[in-house]
Amino acid sequence: MLKAEALSYLYAPGCGIQELSLTINERDCIVLIGDNGSGKTTLLYALAGLLQPQQGSVTYDGKPVMPGDIGIVFQHPDDQFITTSVLDEVIFGLENTQVPREDMAKRAYQALDDVGMRWAEAHHPMTLSGGEKQRVALAAVLAMQPKILLFDEVTAMLDSHARADFYALLKTLKTRYTIVMTTHLVEEYMFANRICYLDAHHLAFDGDLATFAAQYPAHPMPFVITLQRACQLPFRVQSYEECVQQLWASTYTTSQ
Ligand SMILES: Nc1ncnc2c1ncn2[C@@H]1O[C@H](COP(=O)(O)OP(=O)(O)O)[C@@H](O)[C@H]1O
Ligand SMILES: [Mg+2]
Repeated sequence: MLKAEALSYLYAPGCGIQELSLTINERDCIVLIGDNGSGKTTLLYALAGLLQPQQGSVTYDGKPVMPGDIGIVFQHPDDQFITTSVLDEVIFGLENTQVPREDMAKRAYQALDDVGMRWAEAHHPMTLSGGEKQRVALAAVLAMQPKILLFDEVTAMLDSHARADFYALLKTLKTRYTIVMTTHLVEEYMFANRICYLDAHHLAFDGDLATFAAQYPAHPMPFVITLQRACQLPFRVQSYEECVQQLWASTYTTSQ
């Protein structure tokens, strides 16, 4: 369990996060939302230990966060690439850890397999497409075997195909990892078991999507939620197939 308690990090008065508390439970998939400048990235940095909080604390199972506990992937993977091959890139992160040399390649190949990028092991990271770069950046993080994954707008720069590939990967990752992801894409709310809404430097909302939708009726929602609301379907109906079944049940069954 990753716990932030009364966390403050202000770049200037009123600019950053202030007295923010958040508990991230095992296998949570949290979608962290908020306007530009609301402090999402600052919070992720503080959770990852990349920023020392000015006040408050971040702990993992009651202890200070250790290097490697938290993996973070950013919007621009290019900024992270240092080496000249995909395999080296994934191994590079392991160099400063206690991982025995003979296990490094094994871990790196496993991580590349997990993201479907082993075929590119000898390629220069900069020659890859945006979606492929993002998956290599993710492999580099997975190789560290972190306990929690933080994604900061990782799909923002991807085209619709690369985004769909990433979503397929995310569905698998969700079953194995605790995830916190920031996004401006409302469709991605559907991945969350918890929506955390940052406003005015603190958590204005922390709960499930149904409650968020009820509490913030003017907030843009994924299309399937808009459809479900417009057609007055129960909230548990959360896929297009289920909407169709509910709306045209008789037609649907006779056509089977
Ligand atoms: N390194 C920095 N120095 C000064 N101000 C910063 C810095 N990074 C972010 N800020 C400011 O802090 C606020 C929160 O930023 P950020 O956490 O990046 O928000 P978000 O990710 O939600 O867009 C913004 O007003 C931003 O301009
Ligand atoms: Mg940000």
